[in-house]
Parts: sequence; C-alpha cells; structure tokens
Amino acid sequence: MDQPLSDLAAFDIFAPSISTAAPGYSAATIRRASVCGLGKLGACIAATLAARGFEVVGVDVDEEKVKRINAGLAPVDEPLLAETIQAGHSRLHATLDPQEAVATDVTFFIPPSPSLPDGSFSNEYLLKAMQPVARAVKDAGKTHHLFVCSSTTTPGAIDSVVIPMLERELGSICGEDFGFCYNPEFIALGEVVNGLLEPDLVLIGESDPQSGAALEQLYHQYNRNSPRIARMSIISAELTKISLNSFITMKISFTNQLRLIAERHPRADIHAILNALGNDSRIGKKYLRAGLSYGGPCFPRDNRLLAYAARQVGLGAPLAEASDCVNERTKEDLVDRILRMTSPGDTVAVLGVTYKPNTYITEEAAGLFLAQQLKRRGYRVFVHDFAATPANAPSLHEFERISDWEEFKNNPGVTLAVICCPWPQYRELGPRNGTRVFTPWQL
Ligand SMILES: NC(=O)c1ccc[n+]([C@@H]2O[C@H](COP(=O)([O-])OP(=O)(O)OC[C@H]3O[C@@H](n4cnc5c(N)ncnc54)[C@H](O)[C@@H]3O)[C@@H](O)[C@H]2O)c1
Repeated sequence: MDQPLSDLAAFDIFAPSISTAAPGYSAATIRRASVCGLGKLGACIAATLAARGFEVVGVDVDEEKVKRINAGLAPVDEPLLAETIQAGHSRLHATLDPQEAVATDVTFFIPPSPSLPDGSFSNEYLLKAMQPVARAVKDAGKTHHLFVCSSTTTPGAIDSVVIPMLERELGSICGEDFGFCYNPEFIALGEVVNGLLEPDLVLIGESDPQSGAALEQLYHQYNRNSPRIARMSIISAELTKISLNSFITMKISFTNQLRLIAERHPRADIHAILNALGNDSRIGKKYLRAGLSYGGPCFPRDNRLLAYAARQVGLGAPLAEASDCVNERTKEDLVDRILRMTSPGDTVAVLGVTYKPNTYITEEAAGLFLAQQLKRRGYRVFVHDFAATPANAPSLHEFERISDWEEFKNNPGVTLAVICCPWPQYRELGPRNGTRVFTPWQL
C-alpha cells in the first residue's frame, strides 16, 4: 500500500485571498474547519485541509482514531494519509468533544450512512453527529455556522429530516441564521488524498447562495487543480452524487454483458471489441475494461439508492436494477467458470480479494464472493491479497491464507490460481509446477 513520497505532490499553503462571498460566510472567515467523522474519507479531508493551510479540528467518537491523529499517525489505512497528516500536523487537532467545532467556521460531517434493507441510507449517524454541534453552536450564541454534509444521503433526506432537525436544535432558520451545504466527494479508496486535492468535479448543494459561495471559495484555496465547481439545490446535488456512481455501474455492467456474449463466440475477442468502442469519444475508455463485477462501499449501494429514489416518486428504475442484476450474474458466471475448470476437492488460490487494488476493503468484491462459494462447495481455498488481512477484513478469517507471496510464486502447490483483483504485482505470476493461472483481467 505504500506509495513513494515522490508521488505526494507539494502541499503549498495558500496565500490569504480577498473574499468575493457575501457577509456572514465570507471566505476570509473560513480559515478554521472542523471535520466530524475521521474514517476512511473524513480523516483524509481533515488531513488535506490542514496540509493546505486551514486550522482543523477533527471530531470522532472513536478514541483510538483521535489518539492516532494527535500522535501524527494515520487512523485508517490509506496511501499518503500518514504523510499528509505529518504535513499539516501543527494545524490539525483531534478531539472526542463535538463542542470544539463551535470555534471553527465550517463543520464537515462524514459519519457512516449505512444502507437499509429497502435500499435507502440511514440518517442515524448523521443526526447523532450534528445534534451536539448544533446544540453547542446555540449555547455559544453563534450565528452563521456553516454545516456541510459530505456523507452520502438518501435524496430528499436533508430537506425533510436533517435541516428541520438543525432548525429545531438551533431555534433559527437555515439559509438566514446558519448555512447548509451538501458536498459529497467522488473519490476512490486507495487514491483518496490526491482525489480530494485534484478532483474533476466539486459538487455543492446549497441552502442559499452565500453558503455555496463560501464553500466554493474554500475549494479555490484547497484544490491543487481548477476543478469544475457545480452549485445547485440540495436535492439536485443528492441526485447528482448517486447518479454519477449509478452511471458508472451501468457502463461496467454493459461491458460485462458484452463479455458474456463474446465468450460464447470462439473467435470473438472482448478486449479488441472494447478497445475499438473506447476510441469513440462519446463512449471513452474509462471503465470499459473486461474484468469482473463492481464492488466496494459506494458503487453497488449508490446504484441501489437511485432505484430506491425512483420508487419513492412512483417510478421504476429498470436501468439501475439491470446494472445490479448483470453484476450479480457476472459474479455467478465467475464461479461457474471456475467450477468447470476444476473438480470438487481441488485446491484453488484466490488472488486479490479486495474490490480494487490499493485498498483493503473486500465489501462486495468478486474474489471474496468466489472464495466463499468455492469453500461452500467443499474446495480447499487459499486466499491472498496485498492489503486485506483478517485484521482489517474480518470475512477473511474463514480462509487459509497465502502469507508469503514469494514462496507461493515459486511453489504454488495448488490446482488453479484465479486473479480476482488486478493488483499489478500479479503480472509476475506465471504458470509453474503445473498450476494453472486464470486471469479474467487483461493484466
Ligand atoms: N469510503 C468511500 O470510498 C466513500 C466515498 C464517497 C462517499 N463516502 C461516504 O462517506 C461517508 C463516510 O464513509 P467512510 O467510508 O469514511 O466511513 P467510515 O466508517 O470509514 O468512517 C466514519 C467515521 O465516523 C465516525 N463517527 C460515527 N459516529 C460519529 C459521531 N456521532 N460523531 C463523530 N464521528 C462519528 C466513526 O467512528 C468513523 O471514524 C458515508 O456516507 C459514505 O457513503 C465514502
């Protein structure tokens, strides 16, 4: 997971700039930010804000994360996070006390928003994180605090649940006495730090123009590039966030559907087909790679959330549902292929159990699914990964692990090795000692 320091672009501290925003939320006042929720996303937001010159208070309910940040250590595994914390250490302070957020100009909230069985996302953690900050803001008699939600929310939840709660707690009006922005990030785990600092797009849903302008100004100072800043209503931004991920899942599922068709024609080459398609600028090459199913903590559930949002307004969401359906079929197809290539009782090595390289997350990953299905069918299954371990991915506890990659490369001693996640290191693995290697990815 380590990345060389040379990959860490310089953290230039911005020079103070003249504000163009309206009074109340003037950009000149956004020098101090608080971040509630110091997990995979929030820790990186807090660290990058500090590294870019803002005074930052990080708040979490997890004492260990708070201690680690204050000790200058990364609270979660993410490339470049430790170095970024070091870069801004003098401006970054973590605490268990949400009241400390009052001394800052803006609070970013990034607690979990877990999926519920109907596909919607829970507001529970968000409300619990916001309530004490709102109470403290009220007790301090402070006006014009800017509340920013970066967690993914169910479309409509902010206007119907979150802002009414804040107005009750603060006894004041959103957009007049305090501001609210919905500001989700489009980052990929394993590339969060650079993804935050150099995004394609900054999305801001705003309760009022002053709040949006203040946050926009903050991004002008924070980003190292000049991303497109899209400002809109809060509900539009909620729909935009999940639509972006849903659109990508649609593209991946289209690719997988095409692969399944091409495989039924002995002379068809899916890679040649996709290469040609990707040259059309209306389609583009990104996410047009024959491989396996999509997974992780965002794509599957954001896509299902769009289907939920459609049902909420009395519509169906056949495209989103089809992406999900093709994705499940893609996972089952992998299992069927491995069953055809092996016999019950064989030993299979599943290489790469994370949903993508450079992360330890195994949520909805193709490799984990395959390992579980084979084990249930009586196979002996070894798993290997460059980042996921039973300590950070507890679902791996049930498997025998390949802990020494070099030894395995030289003497695999298994019938079939399946590369399920395209970690580049797997390129070195060639067939040895009779072990067959199956790679659905064109490594
Ligand atoms: N991880 C991603 O790739 C990613 C990408 C885009 C959006 N998101 C969204 O960001 C949100 C957070 O995701 P994450 O992956 O960082 O989650 P996470 O579980 O890694 O981190 C959440 C953090 O919030 C803390 N927390 C919980 N309750 C709290 C409270 N009351 N006050 C303060 N802190 C509290 C937890 O202790 C934890 O440290 C989710 O809505 C997710 O959908 C995540």
